[in-house]
Amino acid sequence: MQKHLIKTFGCQMNIYDAARMSDLLKAQCGTAPTEDPTQADLIIFNTCHVREKAEEKLFSELGRFKKSCGNRKVVFAVGGCVGQAEGMHIFRRAPYVDIVFGPQNYHHLPALLARVASGETRIHDDTIPADEKFDALPEHRVSGAIGSVTVQEGCDKFCAFCVVPYTRGREWSRSVDEIVRECQSLVEQGARELLLMGQNVNAYNGLDAGHMAHDLPMLLHEVAMQTEVERIRFVTSHPLDMSDDLIDAFAEIPQLCPYLHLPIQSGSDRVLQRMGRGHDAASYLDWVEKFRKAAPNGAMASDFIVGFPGESEADFQATLDLVDVVRFDHAYSFKYSPRPGTPALEMEDNLSEEVRKARLATLQARLNLHQLERNRALVGSIAKVLVEGKARAGQGVVSGRTSCNRSVHFAGGDDLIGQIVPVRITEGLPNSLRGEEAL
Ligand code: SAH
Ligand code: SF4
Ligand code: F3S
Repeated sequence: MQKHLIKTFGCQMNIYDAARMSDLLKAQCGTAPTEDPTQADLIIFNTCHVREKAEEKLFSELGRFKKSCGNRKVVFAVGGCVGQAEGMHIFRRAPYVDIVFGPQNYHHLPALLARVASGETRIHDDTIPADEKFDALPEHRVSGAIGSVTVQEGCDKFCAFCVVPYTRGREWSRSVDEIVRECQSLVEQGARELLLMGQNVNAYNGLDAGHMAHDLPMLLHEVAMQTEVERIRFVTSHPLDMSDDLIDAFAEIPQLCPYLHLPIQSGSDRVLQRMGRGHDAASYLDWVEKFRKAAPNGAMASDFIVGFPGESEADFQATLDLVDVVRFDHAYSFKYSPRPGTPALEMEDNLSEEVRKARLATLQARLNLHQLERNRALVGSIAKVLVEGKARAGQGVVSGRTSCNRSVHFAGGDDLIGQIVPVRITEGLPNSLRGEEAL
């Protein structure tokens, strides 16, 4: 039997796409997944374009994989966001690549592979077909305790630094019924948690069978009502699409995890304005306050960019001040990376790499400190942990997540995998908790 290997970079939506591609290849091309490049007949790179580093990694990894295949005939395909953004350029840097496609047309893969089999080379599919991808995919199979479902894709916000609106296309939402059906199937297959995903998930605006529009809080109510799932989570939200109804959902839906990932990028109003985020720091802080009122033990997460063109010391200090006020439970932070085709590329940029590096280190130290303090404050409490797997092979330690998305390690057997277990927290570490089963 022929084998396929999918190497994925980037966000959770790319990980979801990789799983769906694998389902599709199994069902329509009869290939089996493998992790070993020397065994693979088809190697797909499912790529990310969001920062320069991710893109560079693609070409170095591609070269490494090509080498490890020797003279064997292996079909190479580059999909995902670099595929969409770079298109034909990929063939120039890696001429042995057979297919280039994007995140909105991976359901064409079987047809593209058939064209390769009939002798065509360097096939480029850059179509962004409207709303047909999910209809063309086979049933989504889940392997672990968490079932992920893309509910919304694309972005209309066009932040000055970001390529996502160009690579994923415009905002659109899947229909309520399609999402509920996929959720029900994942739960029947054993998922205990459903992760609803979107580039701006709280911009969700899908129709039900009666053509009534549903926003995200309405969708969350539907999924809670129509499935037997224990936990529901959603990522990633945008401050402009927040609503009081969404905040109320945290208090109203018992299955909804008290976790809000709400990127702000900068604490400076001047920078937020130049980034084109459409909101200021004060309105962001209002949402944090409302969320914490609705979910007092909930967790706030965010994303930050340091060193956006023109960011002054005072701007950067405003970010640190905001971080001190919120004391996030978790955050991703990045140095600004100039991206082709984005308006920020045209802005005057007088910051050196050293300044960016130093600011990132300062911000990360502050974020890590808060994270550690918040983790330590949980010592002695009991958390419900959804066990996802073994922490380290053969040591009798399993790991899972709390409803606040904190990773917890504790002693336990394989029989706990997939279960929700009460765990007494004994230690708070920078990125995780340790505990013991509370019997
Ligand atoms: N839709 C989400 C973010 C998607 S991209 C939102 O608006 O919050 C994920 C993260 O990558 C962003 O939150 C941002 O922090 C980071 N990012 C995007 N473009 C970047 C760039 N050019 N340089 C550095 N970080 C970037
Ligand atoms: Fe990118 Fe902004 Fe859209 Fe997020 S909201 S995906 S940062 S353009
Ligand atoms: Fe990267 Fe595309 Fe996701 S650019 S972050 S893989 S939407």
